[in-house]
Amino acid sequence: MMKKIAKIDKEVVKEISQAKDVKILEQIRIKYIGRKGKISQLLKQIPRLPKSQRPQAGKFVNQLKNKTENLIQSKNDTLVKLTEESARDRIDITLPGKKFTLGHTHPISRIIEETTQIFTGLGFRVVEGPEIETEYYNFEALNIPSEHPSRDMFDTFYIKDDILLRSHTSPVQIRVMEKEKPPLWIVVPGKVFRPDAVDASHSFMFHQIEGLAVDEAIRFSDLKGTLSTFINRMFGNDIKMRFRPHFFPFTEPSAEVDISCIICEGKGCRVCSFKGWVEILGAGMVDPAVFERVGYDPEKYTGFAFGMGIERIAMLKYGINDIRLFFENDLRFLKQF
Ligand code: DAH
Repeated sequence: MMKKIAKIDKEVVKEISQAKDVKILEQIRIKYIGRKGKISQLLKQIPRLPKSQRPQAGKFVNQLKNKTENLIQSKNDTLVKLTEESARDRIDITLPGKKFTLGHTHPISRIIEETTQIFTGLGFRVVEGPEIETEYYNFEALNIPSEHPSRDMFDTFYIKDDILLRSHTSPVQIRVMEKEKPPLWIVVPGKVFRPDAVDASHSFMFHQIEGLAVDEAIRFSDLKGTLSTFINRMFGNDIKMRFRPHFFPFTEPSAEVDISCIICEGKGCRVCSFKGWVEILGAGMVDPAVFERVGYDPEKYTGFAFGMGIERIAMLKYGINDIRLFFENDLRFLKQF
């Protein structure tokens, strides 16, 4: 009897440990502790044993029965848990994969990056300023008095009497000069706003990049060298540049800078209005009146400044003929860059 018990004990432990699912486990349960199961049979044999052996045999068989019940229960728990987990983690390899679309830089951001990279390579530092400005920074400090006709050039949207959307990046010149002493070499990219009717070449919002260099003995030739380096790096070495005298209230002398049309190479086309030249920026030597406003000694310091439209640069560089394309968010257009 004892031998039988030991043998069944071994068997049942092994079978339970090898059971792979709850169905097999149930079969094992029936096989051993079901009504006609092996262990149940053993129990039934006990009354037929010699009286002296009964208590011990009964004890062992009952122990085996309890042990088997416990083993089956805990194995059942493990199997249930495992199937739940694998159902959760199961991957259906027949499903089509998820498509990841890779975003990329907007053409305007690209030109801003390229431009600032060229200027930082020349020793300029990138600075930003607020898009909501006061009249003082947008006009007064830049030598544009309130009744002066030159305000029309930089008309903008007003939020309140004194608060407006900046119409150029030039106010950041003042903000930086108020805080820092020369030498100063900065470029300022950012959004600007003007109440222009939208058409192929106008938008109520566009981007500029401002430049300012202040130090002792800065000359007009430094401005020219800086800008020609920029233009050649941006558009290539064959591109020519010319300065046309112009007026800006915050620079004296001032100029508008043209480059030879990169579309027709100077021969004349629609993009350059058949002139062979395209205006890309305004520039000049910082007006002493501006230095006085920020407490710089105009006898000691000189400087140059420039401001250019980013959209204009992008349109020329990529051969785009309508500024609205940049802001319509048409992916067929944007994906080309
Ligand atoms: N702020 C001018 C504009 O928006 C551009 C400009 C001209 C900036 C001459 C300058 C400058 O710094 O010196 O049209």
